Amino acid sequence: MSNNNPQTREWQSLSNDHHLAPFSDFKQLKEKGPRIITHAKGVYLWDSEGNKILDGMAGLWCVAIGYGRDELADAASKQMRELPYYNLFFQTAHPPVLELAKAIADIAPAGMNHVFFTGSGSEGNDTMLRMVRHYWAIKGQPNKKVIISRKNGYHGSTVAGASLGGMTYMHEQGDLPIPGIVHIAQPYWFGEGGDMTPEEFGVWAANQLEQKILEIGVDNVGAFIAEPIQGAGGVIVPPDSYWPRIKEILAKYDILFVADEVICGFGRTGEWFGSDFYDLKPDMMTIAKGLTSGYIPMGGLIVRDEVVAVLNEGGDFNHGFTYSGHPVAAAVALENIRIMRDENIIGRVHEESAPYLQKRLRELNDHPLVGEVRGVGMLGAIELVQDKATRKRYEGKGAGMICRQFCFDNGLIMRAVGDTMIISPPLVITPAEIDELVTKARKCLDLTLSALQG
Ligand SMILES: Cc1ncc(COP(=O)(O)O)c(C=O)c1O
Repeated sequence: MSNNNPQTREWQSLSNDHHLAPFSDFKQLKEKGPRIITHAKGVYLWDSEGNKILDGMAGLWCVAIGYGRDELADAASKQMRELPYYNLFFQTAHPPVLELAKAIADIAPAGMNHVFFTGSGSEGNDTMLRMVRHYWAIKGQPNKKVIISRKNGYHGSTVAGASLGGMTYMHEQGDLPIPGIVHIAQPYWFGEGGDMTPEEFGVWAANQLEQKILEIGVDNVGAFIAEPIQGAGGVIVPPDSYWPRIKEILAKYDILFVADEVICGFGRTGEWFGSDFYDLKPDMMTIAKGLTSGYIPMGGLIVRDEVVAVLNEGGDFNHGFTYSGHPVAAAVALENIRIMRDENIIGRVHEESAPYLQKRLRELNDHPLVGEVRGVGMLGAIELVQDKATRKRYEGKGAGMICRQFCFDNGLIMRAVGDTMIISPPLVITPAEIDELVTKARKCLDLTLSALQG
């Protein structure tokens, strides 16, 4: 990027001298310098060079109600003045966390009325792992420890979160996964379906769960965790046959089902939760991101009543975080949920924005570089290919990264997962802004194709 503003260089040198950025090649970042984002409003970001950028990723999938909502800032400020901090350990609580737990129970699927709060989605999944094992131990089945997860799933970056996730490039650093976590195939038809139809492949992928349960022995399996739609893996929308078959398998075996709703929760699919969209009946749901629209860190685990009834018999649950249910985060989350409800944001996604976004995105199917466009709600993926019919990629050319860079340079944030371009804009994006997003995406596909052929 061009650095005309002297302040940009100043901030970049601070980055070089002092900052270690997440999921970054430290040395490469020093050479290039980070783009400095200075402010934001609605669906737009501005960088320190004055560029206005349409944020097609809602930050990291989280800024559901858009940037710049004063109500959330006011809620935080009011709570900071009243009670900036107190913990929930040792039989204490405070009003915002209790009101938030009730507000979440009101929107969660029936029978899910309790919430354990954390500081992030990763901590939510760590909590899940410990709670699942504690649950089975209380029930007198302490061997039911293994958690089955999926390849290319994403469940966070703590040791447990990265182990639950199926990202091999994360496992390679630090001897992961930890014992007791195993992975089965993902329902990614476009990338891995081979000659099967999507429906056949969906059943095949779901059957991997049953096979794994039988291989390990149901007496050793505690839970299966999955994102309703895999986000960071590349917006993997499973074939229609997948979830119904998984539900049959879960009904057959006595294991818990955990829906990781960190991305799908809070309206992303046009329902409050991805589990509502697919009519799943999870025992636990991990939440974060859209819970506060990313304005402040907060995560949690929503737990089914029957599971809570067992936990109630288990004495102390020796787990928790200094910032579990932080009052300021809870106040912001409450205000965020109030805005979502009062402004019917999810209803509007369901009725208007999601159908429009999905229709406009699919128009990109006619582009020579595009092998598939898929999506649900306010989630979308565009597969970049050399040959549409065979789904053959531009091997080793880094098509996704080239496209991502063109997007950045043309005022659009679209993320690349390999050669899959993904979007997840704020839920409040307007039709005119969706038009802008699709127009810019097409332009960047043209530029990417020319670069690949040039
Ligand atoms: C599905 C899913 N689970 C868990 C996480 C981890 O959340 P956090 O980054 O807040 O720890 C993420 C983050 O992207 C996610 O997408």
